[in-house]
Amino acid sequence: MKILITGGAGYVGSVLTNTALGNGHDVRVIDSLYFDNRVPLINLGNPHYEFFRLDVSDGQRLGPLLAGVDYIIHTAAIVGEPASNRFPELTEKTNYLAAKEIIGLAAGQGVKGFIFLSTCSNYGITEGLAREDGDLKPLSLYADTKVRVERHLIEGKSDIDWVVCRMSTVYGASPRMRFDLTVNDFAMNAYRKKYLDVFLPYTYRPYIHVYDAARVIMTMIEQFNKVRNNVFNVGFNGENYQKIRIADIVKRSIPDLKIDVVEKGTDLRDYQVDFTKLERYLGLKNMYTVENGVKEVVDMLSMGIIEDPDADIYYNTKPRLGKAVAH
Ligand SMILES: NC(=O)c1ccc[n+]([C@@H]2O[C@H](COP(=O)([O-])OP(=O)(O)OC[C@H]3O[C@@H](n4cnc5c(N)ncnc54)[C@H](O)[C@@H]3O)[C@@H](O)[C@H]2O)c1
Repeated sequence: MKILITGGAGYVGSVLTNTALGNGHDVRVIDSLYFDNRVPLINLGNPHYEFFRLDVSDGQRLGPLLAGVDYIIHTAAIVGEPASNRFPELTEKTNYLAAKEIIGLAAGQGVKGFIFLSTCSNYGITEGLAREDGDLKPLSLYADTKVRVERHLIEGKSDIDWVVCRMSTVYGASPRMRFDLTVNDFAMNAYRKKYLDVFLPYTYRPYIHVYDAARVIMTMIEQFNKVRNNVFNVGFNGENYQKIRIADIVKRSIPDLKIDVVEKGTDLRDYQVDFTKLERYLGLKNMYTVENGVKEVVDMLSMGIIEDPDADIYYNTKPRLGKAVAH
């Protein structure tokens, strides 16, 4: 089948692309390349891969590229609270307006299904485990735009089958590496500085390895009739962690790490999530744990695969994205 992945050169999108190709599908990627421009190189010669450098807000150029596509995985977005605070107009345009337009265009082209990458951040702060039908409390513009797109799909405002994936926080190695995600950030700083400040250490969040995330999403497409028109929390029961627990896991790989807890912080999100529905529908278990992600980060730094983890391309808030705003 032919799968179109928006944001397919991103942290999650590039692993999704390779997973889809590995599973024998044709993949068409649309990405504006805000970050690491080299990412598509690894697949450019593959006859099952097509790449288009394009802004997803450009409906005129994007529309014809939906012809012949079976499924769309929509990952392109301005991702994370810091980036959405820094670029609010771009966030509204990319995350909400463009998503709505693509959904409309896809319905008109007979696309079989639209997989929307949303986020467990939508829960904001929970008491107990959040289920898919629980209350949403988006605490940032980023999460708010995701909630609005979800609503557009759930309320059936367009004629297309869909799945909403509320993703756990992702970790692990990807061709477009991000060091602004908790596990990757902790492992990178611990390895380099042997020191970690952990803000709001007892707040919870669920975590998922990027390869597990890609496997879940591909399984959804391959078994679309089972999952269509549903919201899923994407992650695994047992993978909700307090931040201090993540730091403890990192310390197992870096024993001389010094950890300081800071009881204050600006990121107030604190949510634990129930993943029973996903397990019930697809029966998948996690193949990776946080330990794997930490080891991957330590490996990429200790072997010099990434020499300068402070470079702009590894962060969603740095000037490269600022340049895109000026376009
Ligand atoms: N990484 C996580 O922990 C996490 C957690 C929850 C949800 N998600 C969701 O997963 C998706 C992917 O996140 P990610 O971590 O891969 O982020 P990312 O920033 O690495 O990837 C986003 C990609 O989209 C592209 N993009 C951005 N705006 C675009 C535009 N206007 N036109 C075309 N391309 C554009 C960027 O160039 C980038 O390659 C997002 O929708 C995000 O909300 C991610």
